[in-house]
Formats: sequence, structure tokens, C-alpha cells
Amino acid sequence: MGTTFITGAGRGLGLEFARQLCDQGETVIGTVRKESARGELEAVGARALICDVDDEQSVQACVAELGGEALDCLINNAGVYGKRQSLGELDTEEVERVFRINAVAPLRVSRAFLPNLEAGKARKVIQITSKMGSIDDNTSGGSYAYRMSKAALNMMNRSLSHDLAGRGFTCLVLHPGWVQTDMGGKNAPLTPEQSIAGMLKVIDQSTQSDSGSFFLHSGDRIPW
Ligand SMILES: NC(=O)c1ccc[n+]([C@@H]2O[C@H](COP(=O)([O-])OP(=O)(O)OC[C@H]3O[C@@H](n4cnc5c(N)ncnc54)[C@H](OP(=O)(O)O)[C@@H]3O)[C@@H](O)[C@H]2O)c1
Repeated sequence: MGTTFITGAGRGLGLEFARQLCDQGETVIGTVRKESARGELEAVGARALICDVDDEQSVQACVAELGGEALDCLINNAGVYGKRQSLGELDTEEVERVFRINAVAPLRVSRAFLPNLEAGKARKVIQITSKMGSIDDNTSGGSYAYRMSKAALNMMNRSLSHDLAGRGFTCLVLHPGWVQTDMGGKNAPLTPEQSIAGMLKVIDQSTQSDSGSFFLHSGDRIPW
């Protein structure tokens, strides 16, 4: 795969992406928000940069620190679930915050690192979405902020796949499954090891003809 850049790599799925890629001998650059979170990421063999994806200046500082270094794959993994609120108690500022981090920030990061990705060979952009962003799959309602933000992320990726098609890019949205992380909780059926092993296989086997698609960690396609 070459060099992979992962947002939100200090814990959870981002850290496990970094761990498995480093174990395979790949080069990994991951981002964390706090200096104190660098250690765990560096311990798996990755390089750590500071970045808050919700902050344009922070992303630009990260781009500057990277200079013209080539990237082969960008994984927009950073995300939040937001406060668990019912329709009646919904706080729209919280909905906007979740939307900014889960949908707007991956667009910001993808655009910001495009020159680095164009300098690389693989040219892959991966959005970590959720099946909760699938309109077809929504049979239970609720989770407004999270569902809306991931549906928007899916649409962003489809546009990106068209805009970058002529430049050899493969842009995918991947659902990790329900996984045991701080976000997924301990009752989730999948371990981070299982989910990431599956997603890395999907990323590795993907070709330009898959660009714009929505896959589960197993490689099965998910309805929109
Ligand atoms: N776990 C699941 O079951 C599941 C299912 C479907 C989809 N997903 C998706 O998978 C991705 C990773 O989730 P996870 O389960 O690993 O969650 P997690 O354990 O809560 O980790 C979230 C990561 O995102 C980072 N992050 C949050 N806001 C950020 C910001 N503004 N700038 C930079 N980084 C930020 C966090 O950094 P800090 O440590 O600094 O907070 C952390 O590294 C998310 O996009 C999530 O929506 C997860």
C-alpha cells in the first residue's frame, strides 16, 4: 500500500489501522488531537502528527508539516457519535458539530492532502462511514446527527469519486461493522482486529472500478 495517512489514530479503529499496517511493514502517518496521545500511536510504529480535523488551521498546519511527502492512501477515520438525544431533546448545535466532524471534515482533509496523494502511486481515499448512514437500512429512526452526517459523507465520497476519476483515484466508503471501541461499546460483536483486517483486505483489493462504492468490512456491498 505504501504510505497511509489516518485521521483519529490515537485510539479505537484508527489506532488498530495503524497497528496492522505497521505490522505489515507499511509506512503510517496518523493524527491525534493531543500531545499526550502521541505515545500509543508511536508505540505501534507510526509517525504521529497533531490535527483537529474540525479546524481548518490545524489541518493546514498538518499539510505544511508533511511538506510535499507522497501519500498512497488517506483514511478519513476520525468521527464522533454525538450526544444521544431523542427528537424532543435534540440540540441542533450538537447536530451541526457532529455534521462538521463526520461530513465536512473528511471533505476538508481529502482536498487538503490531494497534492500529497497525487504524488503517490495507489491514489486511494477511504471514508469510514456507518451503515447508520444508509437510508435503505434505516428502519428504526432516531440518531439524527450521526445518521445525517454519515449519509452526507457517503454523498461527498460519490462526488469525489467522479471528480477524481480522471486522475486514477479509488474513493470508497467503508462500514467497519459494530465494533468494540469507545464508540461501539463493549457489547459490539466485532473486535477492532477483526474489523480492521477485513477493511484492509477490501482496501487492498479495491480497484478504480469500485470507486464511489459503499462496502461492509467483509467486502459485501451495502445498499444506499
Ligand atoms: N465502533 C463502531 O462500532 C463503529 C461503527 C460504524 C462506524 N464507525 C466509525 O468508525 C470511525 C472510528 O470510530 P471508533 O469506533 O474508533 O471511535 P472512537 O473510539 O470514539 O475514536 C474516535 C476517533 O476519532 C477522533 N476524533 C474525534 N473528533 C476529532 C476531531 N475533531 N479531530 C480529529 N480527530 C477526532 C478521536 O480522537 P480523540 O482521541 O482526540 O478524541 C478518536 O481517535 C468513526 O468515523 C465512526 O463513526 C465506528
